[in-house]
Amino acid sequence: MEKRRLSFNAKAIHAGSEPCPTTGAHVAPVYRTSTFVIDNVERAIRIGYGEEEGYSYGRFGNPTVDALQEKIASLENAEAALATASGMAAISTALMAELQAGDHIVTGDIIYGCTYGFVRDLLPQYGIEVTMVDTTDPKNIEEAIKPNTKIVYIETPSNPVLGITDIEKSAELAHANGAKLFVDNTWATPYLQNPLNIGADVVLHSATKYLNGHGDIVGGAIVGSKELMDKIKAPYLEFFGGIMSPMDAAEVSKGIKTLGVRMEKHCQNAKKIAEFLEGHHMVERVLYPGVETHPQHELAKKQMKDFGGMMSFDVKGGAKAGKALMNSVELVSLATSLGCVDSLIQHSPSMSHATMSKEERERVGITEGQVRLSVGIEEPENVIADLKQALEQVEKVID
Ligand SMILES: Cc1ncc(COP(=O)(O)O)c(C=O)c1O
Repeated sequence: MEKRRLSFNAKAIHAGSEPCPTTGAHVAPVYRTSTFVIDNVERAIRIGYGEEEGYSYGRFGNPTVDALQEKIASLENAEAALATASGMAAISTALMAELQAGDHIVTGDIIYGCTYGFVRDLLPQYGIEVTMVDTTDPKNIEEAIKPNTKIVYIETPSNPVLGITDIEKSAELAHANGAKLFVDNTWATPYLQNPLNIGADVVLHSATKYLNGHGDIVGGAIVGSKELMDKIKAPYLEFFGGIMSPMDAAEVSKGIKTLGVRMEKHCQNAKKIAEFLEGHHMVERVLYPGVETHPQHELAKKQMKDFGGMMSFDVKGGAKAGKALMNSVELVSLATSLGCVDSLIQHSPSMSHATMSKEERERVGITEGQVRLSVGIEEPENVIADLKQALEQVEKVID
């Protein structure tokens, strides 16, 4: 059966998951090896030059990693994918492969803190011009594009304020100038949106998050056409060396099998928790695309299958209150990651977005009392009860 025609859960479970061809083991063994023994030097040369299929060395390819790449490509309706050591390895490798000195990139001004630091501080060191704009308004992208723009880079929903950028419109604007659209799809996951279907050229993932879902590995992925992935793999991924290990690839492949059912729960739970927070007197503002007050609620409805499991909210009382909340949660863990089966909370200005200055944060709406909640798949009543008691603690400590 043609696996590309399967629906989401069937693809998540079956794509790239073949039984072991030698033993018939239902779940194929993990190929824990650094190198591969080749029967003669002529074959080694043919493999080395890509004239024959085969494996030669772990940094150039591994069957367990290939299986994961097939699974991720299938979920994103892509021709190919590359698994990487982290989300940042995916982002930095893909950007360095596409940009050269003299080129220009337009990026969102609210994106994951390390991506922000990478484009703001490192790209200019290589002679690459950067313009950061609020990409939730396509007019800003249009105005920022220049003749030497090679990439428009967006994150939607954006970390941590959940801004929604129109993928289709961004692709049109990028392509009109011969540039490519890169989309970080970490927060939405392929369950909620497939950017490549609506014009994006490259999709990036932190596999650390929802794809794996269990918080026990760090990994990433670059997804797109075979031509582009071949170009990024050799030489960039092979020379920079940020590959995923086979052990981690096996974990992510296992995690992805339940991505659809987990995402359904994350979305259902987040809606209930957002409603609770919206009605709480200690919460000034809830940033969640599923609430009608969200400025891009209608776009989120059109572009995404559901609204996801991530939200941020401003606690009344500023930094003191935000930090007090972190120290008061009991069931929810204070941890800077996201997309796990368990709920995680963090204080964005002092944790994920500490690479931005206070002024930069203020300009884009990351307030000093802002916290980011990654809603897990626990029964939401339990998470709500924990947040309720934690907010009561906060009220006691603020003036
Ligand atoms: C949207 C987004 N992209 C990329 C990353 C980086 O991923 P990693 O930590 O796997 O390098 C993160 C991490 O939080 C993220 O939230």
